[in-house]
Order: sequence, then structure tokens, then C-alpha cells
Amino acid sequence: MSDKFAGLTKSQLDSHWMAFTANRQFKKDPRLMVAADGCYYTDATGRKIFDGLSGLWTCGLGHNVPEINEAVSNQMKELDYSPAFQFGHVKSFQLAERICEFMPEGLNRVFYTNSGSEAVETSLKIARAYWRKLGKPGKTRLIGRLKGYHGVNFGGISVGGIGANRAPFGETLAADHMRHTMLPESAFSRGMPENGAELADDLLDLIALHDATNIAAVIVEPLAGSGGVLPPPVGYLQRLRKICDDHNILLIFDEVICAFGRMGANTGAEAFGVTPDIMALAKQVTNGAMPLGATVVKQMIYDAFMDTDAPEYMLELPHGYTYSAHPVACAAGLAALEVLEQQQIIPRVAKTAVHFEKSIHELDDCPNVLDVRNYGLASGLTLAPYPGEPARRPFEVAMRMWDKGFYVRYGGDTIQLGLPFIVESSEIDSLVSALHESLEECA
Ligand SMILES: Cc1ncc(COP(=O)(O)O)c(C=O)c1O
Repeated sequence: MSDKFAGLTKSQLDSHWMAFTANRQFKKDPRLMVAADGCYYTDATGRKIFDGLSGLWTCGLGHNVPEINEAVSNQMKELDYSPAFQFGHVKSFQLAERICEFMPEGLNRVFYTNSGSEAVETSLKIARAYWRKLGKPGKTRLIGRLKGYHGVNFGGISVGGIGANRAPFGETLAADHMRHTMLPESAFSRGMPENGAELADDLLDLIALHDATNIAAVIVEPLAGSGGVLPPPVGYLQRLRKICDDHNILLIFDEVICAFGRMGANTGAEAFGVTPDIMALAKQVTNGAMPLGATVVKQMIYDAFMDTDAPEYMLELPHGYTYSAHPVACAAGLAALEVLEQQQIIPRVAKTAVHFEKSIHELDDCPNVLDVRNYGLASGLTLAPYPGEPARRPFEVAMRMWDKGFYVRYGGDTIQLGLPFIVESSEIDSLVSALHESLEECA
């Protein structure tokens, strides 16, 4: 294997319009993965590449996990597909209960999707429909937060707060945004920033503007990921929870990145001590091996749909996907959660995170580093922009890293890291030292 293009023709390369990718640049100089095992990819030239983002925040257990491989392969032979509507299969119910075991107390009803974006969309739709069920059809307004990322569907980009992901698409759903929590005085915080809990009071301003009788839900990522890896300020989520309780507004956590271990706890809710009414999850639930997402709700929400005088043969929520609860994805999920628990991976994340925090903050004084943030096995570095080109330096640094055998994410003005849960301290040190060199080279 020494062909950078892995034998692909130009026509093949051109045929695939790649997601969230600079297609023109990529196709001139492709970065192709051909295999993966543990914390490493192999690229088309045969190089080993350290997986600094666990795939896309998906593969915390590493790649090529035998238990997941076997479960998927067996499931394909046993039941490759089962209709998602009006008929079921055993594993979806087993997995639903298993997912609930990882949830904070009270979140115990699982609606399946195939992705994080769909889990968000499902959360928003359930929130609105819930208030209708309760006879409050005016409660429709949705509130998100600047720098929030909630996937790419119309609901998600409406509550999302990353301009570049919304601007090209014109009008979205009516939604308001609280300010983000990235304060200049919090730069280089280790773990949760001390300042900023009061930013949750932005919700009070929006309540004053719209009146809570018109607001369905507030959605935030406990740790904002794609917006730059922003851990919540101490007390912020608690304050948001209280305002929601005081004003009868549902609180949705988008835990597509946080759930199942990345924060060193089962969920972000557990790590930060706040329980939402609805949680959107995906990614790590199958270790990325199969697409699966879910929206998990409190029983009161489920019950609001089930307590109806309509005939029993009538469905309660006209929503779902052909691949909701896909049997192969459910088999992958059951296997992934078993490995997560049996191998005590989450406590391991909490332990490794201590070394990671120490190590990543060695970059605080590197050239052009404006901020380093971290929590669990996630970190974000903000880099100083070239005049008028905020996204260029992260791209250049990430390409240097790729040349050195490390895959890291670059987006906006940040470099993002989401290390595999099974990473060794020595691998963290190598990654940080390669970043050090790359930042120097791009100074
Ligand atoms: C917090 C959050 N929500 C939603 C999504 C969207 O998930 P997907 O890409 O599976 O649709 C992501 C993806 O990174 C995410 O980080």
C-alpha cells in the first residue's frame, strides 16, 4: 500500500460529494483511511495514524472491537432487518433497558433514531407535541445557545448557534439563542470554568420577551463540542435547570458527544450533576460501528402520550424512521455497552483525564494559542487567526499533524481532540508533543 489515492480514479473521487469537507482541497490531496485497529488508523500509504478524535467522537473503545464485530456479524445472519413500525424485535427492547441503566434517574423511555441530528429533531418534536398533549399548544418556541451544535437538520440548525452551518440555508424555525459561555477571563481553564453561571439568566430575558407560555424547550449540549469544546461554567447548568423548573419549560440535553463515557461519567448529566427532561444521544452508543441514535425522555413525557382516550390501535406519535431500532445497530449497541461496563472503561476515562488535563495545558504557551480547554477526554484549542482567515491556522496545524501521523479535528478557529477511552499516557504525551511541534511550525 503506497498509493495515496488507493487506486481511486479522478472520476471516482469526483463522484462523492463529501460531508463537511473541503472537497476541492481533499480531492487534490486525499487523506484515505483503509483500516483501523485500537487507537490507530492505517492510511492508504500504509502509515499508522493515531485517532485523536475517536473517529468523530464515536469510537471511544477503539477500533476493531471483537465483541462488537461478532455481535454485528451474528445479527446479520440471524435477523438483518425488521420493520420499524408496528412490528418489533427482541434486541431493541433489551438495548432500551440497557441504555436506561446508563441514564440519570428518571430518564427511562427510549425512542430510536439513526443519528444525532435525528435524535435532536426527535427531541424538539416530542417537546412541542408534549405541550399539545397537555393542552398548551402555544408552547412551541425553542431556545438554543450560540456556538451550540445540534446536527444539520432544520430543527437542529434553528436552535444551533454556529452561523456557518445556518447562513447558507435561509429561513429556519423560530428560535432564540442564549449567549455562549466562552468568556475571555475563562481562557486556559482546567476543567469547568469558574465564571459564567450567570449567563444562564439569558433564559430569563427570553422568558420576559416571549413569556414562558410560548416556550416549549431549551436545548444545550452539557459540554458544547463542535462549537469549540466548551465545558459548562460551574453552576451554569444548575441555574438553567432551576429556571426551566420555575417556568415550566422542558430542558433538553444534546449528549451526542457526552453520553457513554467521554466526560468520565455515564453522561454529561451525571458528570455535571443536572438531569434534563429529554436527552439526545448517538455516536458512542454503538462505538460508531453502526449508525444509531436515540431520544431518551422522562416517564411523565411518555405517559402524556400514552394517557389518551384514542382507540388502542391508533399510534401515539406519528414520527420515526425506516431504520429506527435497526436490529444490527441494536446488536452493536448491546455489545458496545457491555464492553464499556465489563471493562470498566468509564472509570478509566476519569483517571486518564487527569493526565490529559496536565499534558494538554503544556500547550498554553505555544505560539498563537489563545485558549486551551478540557474536560474528560475532550479538549479544544483556540488559535489566533490570520487576518480575515480564522479557519486557516487550524487547518494548517491539522495537516502538519496528519503528516506526523495524528488525526485531529479542525473546525472554525479551533483544533479539537476527543481521545479514545483506551488511550495510554505515553500516547497522550506523543500527541501533545506533535501538537507542540506543529504549532511552532505554523507560527
Ligand atoms: C452535540 C451534537 N449533536 C448532534 C450531532 C449530530 O449528529 P449526527 O452527525 O450523527 O447527525 C453532533 C455531531 O457531531 C453533535 O456533536
